[in-house]
Amino acid sequence: MTKERPFPKAQMHGDLVELFPGIHFVTGSVTLGGPLPVRFSRNMTVVRQDDDLTIINSVRLSEPGLKALESLGKVRHVIRIASFHGMDDPFYKDRYGATVWSVDAPYFSGFDSTGEPYFTPDRVVDGNSDLPLKNARLTLLSSATPCEGLLLIEREGGIVVAGDCLQNWATTNRYFNLPARLMMRLLGFIKPHNVGPGWLKAAKPDPGEIRKVMAEIDFDHVLPAHGDPVRGNAKQLYAPVVAAL
Ligand SMILES: [Fe+2]
Repeated sequence: MTKERPFPKAQMHGDLVELFPGIHFVTGSVTLGGPLPVRFSRNMTVVRQDDDLTIINSVRLSEPGLKALESLGKVRHVIRIASFHGMDDPFYKDRYGATVWSVDAPYFSGFDSTGEPYFTPDRVVDGNSDLPLKNARLTLLSSATPCEGLLLIEREGGIVVAGDCLQNWATTNRYFNLPARLMMRLLGFIKPHNVGPGWLKAAKPDPGEIRKVMAEIDFDHVLPAHGDPVRGNAKQLYAPVVAAL
């Protein structure tokens, strides 16, 4: 059973930027409610193939932002690689009729995995699934609960699109409010080439599996859900934090 909920509204975001031919990236934000709302940045990656767009780590954009997205092509697919992301997937499905592909993890609100999910994806994907993107494959971190994946696009020496696992918040930016600036620095989120501390705590992945996966895939770049893109030498840059897990 799913319990649909209203689509979350668009929150502040920047412009879509083309990082590699046909691969676009936009930084937006999310606010976690509560007595002291905490707002921080998150990113969406958009891959253009022919005239079709595939969204990974969806972030709902404002109307002008959606017009800019539509100018790139037709939104056909959404891929959810991170269980703690996906709040805007239903919006993109509704607005564009996109097919939603997700790792095997319920869409639950916040960090409460006991409630009824708010959405059911069209397809559940794992490491053996055909994806709507050419030259792309998913590698699951299946020891994480709920599970997460890294999406490898085999171009440009290897581009990994990551969810909460590989982050790169070297500094806070304009999308962080004051509570987020203070708290997230204290909690160890604000570091370059980092493995998400919140994700480690919540999903408890096996460090050995992360090391194995990182050793097996070849990549030069990381487009994370949190922080700046890592362009060049990414595998080496993440190696110390992965070794220290
Ligand atoms: Fe996240």
